[in-house]
Amino acid sequence: MDKRALIDIVGPALRGLTAGDRSLGVLRYEDSPADDSCDLRIALPAEASTAQIVDALRRSISDSKARTVLVEGLGLFRRLDHATDQRTGRVADKVAVVTGAAQGFGLEIAHSLVAQGAFVALTDVNIEGVDSAANALCGQFGPDRAIGLPLDVTDSSSVAQAAHDVVCNFGGLDILISNAGVLEAQSVKTQPEEDFDFVTRVNYKGYFLCVRQFAPIMAVQHLIRPGIYSDIIQINSKSGLVGSNRNAAYAGSKFGAIGLTQSFALELIEDGIKVNAICPGNFFDGPLWSDPDNGLFVQYLRADKIPGAQNVQDVRKAYEDRVPMGRGCTTADVMKAVYYLIEQEYETGQALPVTGGQVMLG
Ligand SMILES: NC(=O)c1ccc[n+]([C@@H]2O[C@H](COP(=O)([O-])OP(=O)(O)OC[C@H]3O[C@@H](n4cnc5c(N)ncnc54)[C@H](O)[C@@H]3O)[C@@H](O)[C@H]2O)c1
Repeated sequence: MDKRALIDIVGPALRGLTAGDRSLGVLRYEDSPADDSCDLRIALPAEASTAQIVDALRRSISDSKARTVLVEGLGLFRRLDHATDQRTGRVADKVAVVTGAAQGFGLEIAHSLVAQGAFVALTDVNIEGVDSAANALCGQFGPDRAIGLPLDVTDSSSVAQAAHDVVCNFGGLDILISNAGVLEAQSVKTQPEEDFDFVTRVNYKGYFLCVRQFAPIMAVQHLIRPGIYSDIIQINSKSGLVGSNRNAAYAGSKFGAIGLTQSFALELIEDGIKVNAICPGNFFDGPLWSDPDNGLFVQYLRADKIPGAQNVQDVRKAYEDRVPMGRGCTTADVMKAVYYLIEQEYETGQALPVTGGQVMLG
């Protein structure tokens, strides 16, 4: 096993073994610590399996008050207790990863999670976006509370590197918000194959690649602390529940992701991981719809999609009128569903609509 793979097992295991009762908290990995004095020094067996490594760590750590653990040949793991003192909130001291967090829903979800006490890795292909958002969150809520990481959900090596960086920075994770998504709306009669592939790769395969990489980290934590559950939440869409006219690539990718959600849920519950999807209605205030140059409102106005519409406000009104509750979805609406799914200990494999009544389940 290479060093990176070993750290990705030892980090989450130590996070569980050295935690208090309330939560697993935060643990940081240091490759070459300036000061290698530690509470505990451990040697691991060579060429061991995950279960053997976890067993060896469990036997070595009888004193769960160890704050610094040096694993010979690997490095130092240090609890960041200064960062977890007296934190409150609905996800206090949990670690969360949000994909597609540079803007839109992802950015606002990350902000809410930090405000509610979590440590959050904001990840995106837009690296400057997540870096500056994470810096702003640390400025507002305290150092160490957020980091920005490059992560392209369509690239398995990028996902693996980001997962490793999360372990090095926080020790593991409790919540994965699989939010990154793209839309290329067009008629099935004319849509280029590349556009279909692009949407499918990000929205469908990207979700698979992220779960494949992050679930084993959560599973190690569950081996150590079977009473503590983790959550994977995919930000799906109302278009994952009903078809979307001239938008088949998007709707197909979202329907497919609900199949993944149900299947992941069946498999991963043995690792203490709940897997659910949230299906929001249209987020009219987000950049996808409201960007003044390229947003869908401007595009639909230019394309005369709403007969008689004179301006962007007319287009928006036409879409709001399709919602029984008369308005678009907001991140606050989505966060109520996120916290419900995290706090609900007896549900997995669901696709939860948040659509103001636009989609009603049978
Ligand atoms: N906007 C809506 O009306 C709406 C409604 C329902 C569901 N959703 C879903 O919510 C999620 C977020 O949508 P949004 O409106 O905030 O989108 P957005 O376009 O505003 O933001 C998407 C983010 O994902 C990032 N991204 C794109 N490709 C990526 C990749 N390969 N790897 C990592 N990051 C990538 C982008 O850089 C961007 O920061 C999507 O899954 C979308 O399908 C959106």
